[in-house]
Amino acid sequence: MMKHQTIPLFALPVTRIDVDCDGIAEFFDSVVKPSKGRSNTDGTTGYATPLIHYHNDQNVFDIYDELKDFGDRILEASNFVYRNVMNHDTELRITNAWFNECDVGGRQYMHNHCNSAISGTIYLRTDQHSYLQFHSPYGMNDFGNLLLDEPNTKRPNQFGYSHHFKIVTYKVEDGACLFWPSHLRHGYTENLTPQRLSLSFNFLPTTFNCVYKS
Ligand SMILES: [Fe+2]
Repeated sequence: MMKHQTIPLFALPVTRIDVDCDGIAEFFDSVVKPSKGRSNTDGTTGYATPLIHYHNDQNVFDIYDELKDFGDRILEASNFVYRNVMNHDTELRITNAWFNECDVGGRQYMHNHCNSAISGTIYLRTDQHSYLQFHSPYGMNDFGNLLLDEPNTKRPNQFGYSHHFKIVTYKVEDGACLFWPSHLRHGYTENLTPQRLSLSFNFLPTTFNCVYKS
């Protein structure tokens, strides 16, 4: 045993706020899903069981009056995260918000969101198998040669540290609303939840206090 101190520098915040989502899954099933013309299959997977996005180039809170109060709750939670947790002075606005439905066997590859400062997802239909994974942005190098000396993720760390994990899995339940910096890559492997349903959103600041002045 070596006496030591490890300092976890520059941790990235993923913030969870539980938001009232009563009736939203039912609204999706009865109104949004039947409007097939506004859906598209996720282009990142090419997998046999599709992940279907609904309105993912739009803002469902603007399209459906029935979702306006829900959107206001999401925006309030996002501004708490941005201003109180992350210490920004500016206010956020929702640039787009869309539904995602995935049946058993589907998946979503790791990806991040462009043209966005903060992104988030609220879970609307989950079970004990539902989760989201985040990929560490540190030490990544997609272009050059890699040193192939990976740490052993199966051997428990004797101090309980988790610095050696590149992917973190977070279980989600209905109403769990997660917010994270938009550059953080996220996704999930084989889905075991029947008709896994979520609603995702992107935010940009209403003003910029650096570089761009408005
Ligand atoms: Fe995403």
